[in-house]
Amino acid sequence: MLRLAKKAQSRERAKMKRIIYISTVNRHLSEEEIESIGQISARNNSGVGITGVLISVHDYFFQVLEGDEDAIAQVIERIRRDPRHKDMHILKAETEITERHFPKWSMRTIRLAGSGDIILQAIRDMLQNIAQSHRVIERYTQPSVLKFLTEGVNPLTVLPRKTDKIVLFCDMVGFSYLSDMFPVEQVAEVVNAFLEVCSTTIADHGGVVAKYVGDCTIAYFEQGQSDSAISACLDVLRRVGEMRGNNHDCHLMKFLYCGLGVAAGTVIEGNFGSSVKMDYTVLGGTVNMAARLEALTRQIAKPLAMSESVMQGAQENWAFVHVGDFQLKGAGKSCPVYSLNDPLMDDFKDHSHLIEDMRQACGNQVHE
Ligand SMILES: Cc1cc2nc3c(=O)[nH]c(=O)nc-3n(C[C@H](O)[C@H](O)[C@H](O)COP(=O)(O)O)c2cc1C
Repeated sequence: MLRLAKKAQSRERAKMKRIIYISTVNRHLSEEEIESIGQISARNNSGVGITGVLISVHDYFFQVLEGDEDAIAQVIERIRRDPRHKDMHILKAETEITERHFPKWSMRTIRLAGSGDIILQAIRDMLQNIAQSHRVIERYTQPSVLKFLTEGVNPLTVLPRKTDKIVLFCDMVGFSYLSDMFPVEQVAEVVNAFLEVCSTTIADHGGVVAKYVGDCTIAYFEQGQSDSAISACLDVLRRVGEMRGNNHDCHLMKFLYCGLGVAAGTVIEGNFGSSVKMDYTVLGGTVNMAARLEALTRQIAKPLAMSESVMQGAQENWAFVHVGDFQLKGAGKSCPVYSLNDPLMDDFKDHSHLIEDMRQACGNQVHE
C-alpha cells in the first residue's frame, strides 16, 4: 500500500514543470494594480497547486511558476493574453522537476520600487538587457527551435528521426542577375519583403519555415497538409503579384517573380550542423526533390511545380494539370510533375523575359 502511494507520488512529481519568464509592462501600473495581480494570482494558483514568485521591477515582470504541467500550460496561456504586459520571453522551462523552489508561495509578489537604489537600477538594467537580447535572438532563431525551448526541451538533445513531411521551396527568379543590376538598398528591401511574404503566408497556413538560403525559403508542412501547402503557394503568388503591381516602373520590386516547388515524402528531421552553427531542419530525397521542382518552374514556365505525392495527398478539388514527366537530378526514374490550372500560373516570367522587361523599363538606369 505504502509502495503504491509512493509510486503515485513520484508519478505526480514527475509531471511537474517550472517556467521562468520576463515581460514588459504595457502601460504604467500602479502599486494597487500590481498588488491586485498578486492577489488574484495567489488565489487562482492555490486552487490548482501552482507555486512561485512574481517580481516587479520598474517596467519589468520576472515570474517563476511551478506545478502540474497542464495547470501551468493553462495559467501561462491566460498570463500571455493579459494586456497589462507584453513581450513575454520564456527564459527557462524545466519539465519533470521533482522539487519546488517556492513550495510555500502560491504566488508571492514582490515589488521592487524606488528610483535611487543602485541595486534596483542594476536589476532593472539586467532585466532590460535580457529582454532586449531575447528579442534579437528570437528573430534569428528557427521557430521549431523556439518551440522546443518554450516547451522546456533542449533542442540539442532532440534525436534525428525519419518522418513524413511536405517540403516547400520558394525562390526568386533571376535573383543573382537582378541583384547585380539594382542598388543594394533596393535588393535588401525586396529580399526582405519577399522573405516576409513567404514566411508569414506559410506560417498562416500552418507550415514551418526551416531556413533561408539567400532569397530562398525552405519550409515544411506536416503529412496530410497538402491542401494547406497548395493554398500557401497560391497566396504567396497572389501577394508577390500585388507587390509587383504596387511599384513604379524601374524598381527591382517590379521584377519580382518566384518559383515554388513542393514535394511530399520521407525526410530526416533533426539537428544538422557543427560546433560553430546548428540548424534544426529537414533533409533527404524529398527535400532535394522540392528543390529540383522549384528549379523546374523556369522550364515549365509555371510558378508552381508539385510532385505526384502532393497531388495524391490533397483532399480539395484542385485543378491539377500534369505538365510532363521529368528526369529530376538525384531521382532514379523520371517523375510526373503537376501544376494547377489557375490564372496565377500564367503570371510567370523566366530569367530571359525578366531581363528583357528590365532593359525596356529601366534603359540605362541600371548598369550591367
Ligand atoms: C505579470 C503577470 C503575472 C500573472 N501571474 C498570474 C498567475 O500566476 N496566476 C494567475 O492565475 N493569474 C496571473 N496573472 C493574471 C492573469 O493574466 C489573469 O488576469 C487572471 O488569471 C484572470 O483571472 P480570473 O479569470 O480569475 O479573473 C498575471 C498577470 C500578469 C500581468
